[in-house]
Amino acid sequence: MCGIVGFTGQKPCVDILIESLKRLEYRGYDSAGIAVFENGSIRTAKAKGKINEGLVPLINRGADNLYSTDFSHQTCGIGHTRWATHGEPSDVNSHPIGNGRVTIVHNGIIENYREIKEFLIGAGYSFESETDTETVVKLLDYYYDGDPVEAIIKVCAEIKGAYALGILFRGFPDTIYAVKKESPLIVGDGKTGNFIASDVAAIMEYTKDYYLLEAGEIAVIRPDSINFLDIHRRHVEKKLKTVDWDISAAKKGGYEHFMLKEIHEQPSVLASSMAVRIKGGLPDFSDCGLSPEKINSYNKFFIVGCGSAMHAGIVGKSLLEGLGRVPVTVDIASEWRYSDPLIDENDLCIVISQSGETADTLAALKLAKERGADTLAVVNVVGSTIARAADMVIYMSAGPEISVCSTKAYAVQVEMMYLIAFAVTFAKGKITEEKCREYTAELQKLPELVSKLLEDKADYQYAASHIMSAESLLYIGRGLDYALSMEGSLKLKEISYIHSESYAAGELKHGTISLITEDTPVIAVATQTALLDKTISNIKEVKARGAKVVLVTRAAQTIDEKAYDIRVNLPEALDIFMPIITCVPLQLIAYYTAVLRGTDVDMPRNLAKSVTVE
Ligand code: AGP
Ligand code: GLU
Repeated sequence: MCGIVGFTGQKPCVDILIESLKRLEYRGYDSAGIAVFENGSIRTAKAKGKINEGLVPLINRGADNLYSTDFSHQTCGIGHTRWATHGEPSDVNSHPIGNGRVTIVHNGIIENYREIKEFLIGAGYSFESETDTETVVKLLDYYYDGDPVEAIIKVCAEIKGAYALGILFRGFPDTIYAVKKESPLIVGDGKTGNFIASDVAAIMEYTKDYYLLEAGEIAVIRPDSINFLDIHRRHVEKKLKTVDWDISAAKKGGYEHFMLKEIHEQPSVLASSMAVRIKGGLPDFSDCGLSPEKINSYNKFFIVGCGSAMHAGIVGKSLLEGLGRVPVTVDIASEWRYSDPLIDENDLCIVISQSGETADTLAALKLAKERGADTLAVVNVVGSTIARAADMVIYMSAGPEISVCSTKAYAVQVEMMYLIAFAVTFAKGKITEEKCREYTAELQKLPELVSKLLEDKADYQYAASHIMSAESLLYIGRGLDYALSMEGSLKLKEISYIHSESYAAGELKHGTISLITEDTPVIAVATQTALLDKTISNIKEVKARGAKVVLVTRAAQTIDEKAYDIRVNLPEALDIFMPIITCVPLQLIAYYTAVLRGTDVDMPRNLAKSVTVE
C-alpha cells in the first residue's frame, strides 16, 4: 500500500531515493520522507503531501536542522511514500520513523501494535506518532544491543500482521537491513550500489537485477554485498532475477496521464497476452498446470478478487456458467474470506489481482488452500505474493499498470476469463473443438475492434461534458451489460469523485427509480441483443422521468432516438464478446470527466494502487 526504497553504494543517495520514490507514488502518496546516514548519525526529512509538495521543498531548503547543504557525501539511506492506516497523514506520522538509534520505513499493518505499545510504555518508552509503525521502531530499540540481526529476529518473533521493513541502525552507517511478511519487498543488485524497493519499477533506472525477499529472511545490504539470513542466522542462497520489461513501460510516453496511456495500450496487450495463451488455435494453460484432466476434476468454481478484478470475475462467472454450465461463485475477497464459503478439496478457486499483493485477495487464496481447493491466480506482477502463494499462476503480461485506476489490467483479466471459460467448456465437452477454435478466433479479433474505438474520442468527451457537473448518477444494464455498468461506475467514482451506482436495469422499478429527477444522468449499457428490448424499456422508464441518458450500444442497433440524449456507438461482435469492447468507452467517459473536473487522474485522493492492508 505504500512505497519503500533504499540505497547504499558509492554514489550520493538522496536523489536516487527521491527519484525511486516518485516511481512508487502510485502505491500511496499522503506523505513522504527519507532518512540517510550523515557522519554516523541518521538524519530524517519527511513531510505531509506528495513528494514534490512536501519532501522535495523541505530538502531543497537545505533545512539546516536536517541536512548540511552538501548532499554529495550521503551514500546510504531509505525512503517511504505513505498510504496511512494508523494515524492521519501528517508530518509526525510520516515515515521514516526513528529514535536516533533505529530508523525504519514500513509497508503494512502491525495487528498487535497496541499490546506492544503498552509493554514499551511500561518499559519507559514514549511515543510521538499515532502510527502502528512506531511500536516496531521502539521494540527494535528495546532489543538492540549492538547486534541488528538479533534485534530483528526478536522483533519479528513478536509482531503480528503484514510488514515490509527497511531498517537503519546507528553504528552501521553503510548498511540497510530488510525483512518482510506478506507485504512486498525486493533487493536490487546494482553496479554502483544496492537497493531495496516495494517493486522493481522503483529501481529499474539503476538496475534490472533483483532478489525477491521471502518471509522469514533477513537481508543485510551493503554497498558491495548482499547477504540473506534465515531466523537462525544461517546464510540463504537466492536466485538473482532480471526484469524483462523496459523502463519506458513505466513512463507516460507522451500521454498526459498514465491512465490514458494504459487505455491506449489495450489493443496491443490484449493481443500479446492472448498470443501466449493460444496454441494451435485453442486456449492452452498446460504450462501453468490447468490441464483438461484437472478441469474435469473440479465440482465447483470460485472467482474472488477486489474492485475491478472482481468485476472481471463477474464476466468470468457469466461465461463459465453460460458456456461451460459449471457452478460458479464470484465474490469480493473481503466478504468471501469471512463467509465460511462452501469450498472444498474438489473445487477450484480462481483469484484475480493485478498487483498480486491485495491483502484480502491473498487471504481468500489462503483460505481456499486451507480448505484443500486448488488455487489459480490470474496476476500481472511476476513473482508477486499472490503469484507465489497460488498452486497455479496465469500471468496477464499486461506490462506495468501505473495509474491507480485499472484499465488495461481489467481488460486483460476479462480476456483471461474468456480463455479459461473456453478451455473449461471444451474440457467438459460442452463445445466441439471446432466451436472452441471459432470462439478463440473471435476473441483474437477484439484488439482490432478496440483499436478502432480509440480513433475518435469525441463521443466520450461529449458524454463527459454532460455528466461532469452531476452530483450523482446511475449506470444501468442487464446481464453482461450490468457487469460492465459496475466497472463503469467504479471508474467514474474513483477518478472524478462523482458518486455513481450501477444498477440492474430490470430492478430499477423496485425502488431506485425514485432517485430519477430532471436531468439525472443515466449511463445505459445496451449491447446484449437478447436483452435489448427489455433494456430499452427500462431506459424509456428513466427517460420519461427526466433522466439525461447516455446510451452505450452497437452502432448498427436501431433504437428510438427519443430513448436517449447522447449515443456512444460500438462495433459489432457476438454478445458474449462485447465486454472487452464496451469497457473502453466507459473508461474514457470516466477519464474525460475527471480531466474536466481537474482531479488527479493517476493518483486520486484516498486511494493507492495496491491495497496491501485489510
Ligand atoms: C480499479 O480501478 C481499482 N484501482 C481497484 O478496484 C483495484 O482493481 C483493486 O484494488 C484490486 O487490485 P488488484 O487487482 O491489484 O488486486
Ligand atoms: N501502517 C503504517 C502507517 O500507517 C504503514 C502504512 C503504509 O503501508 O503506508 O503508517
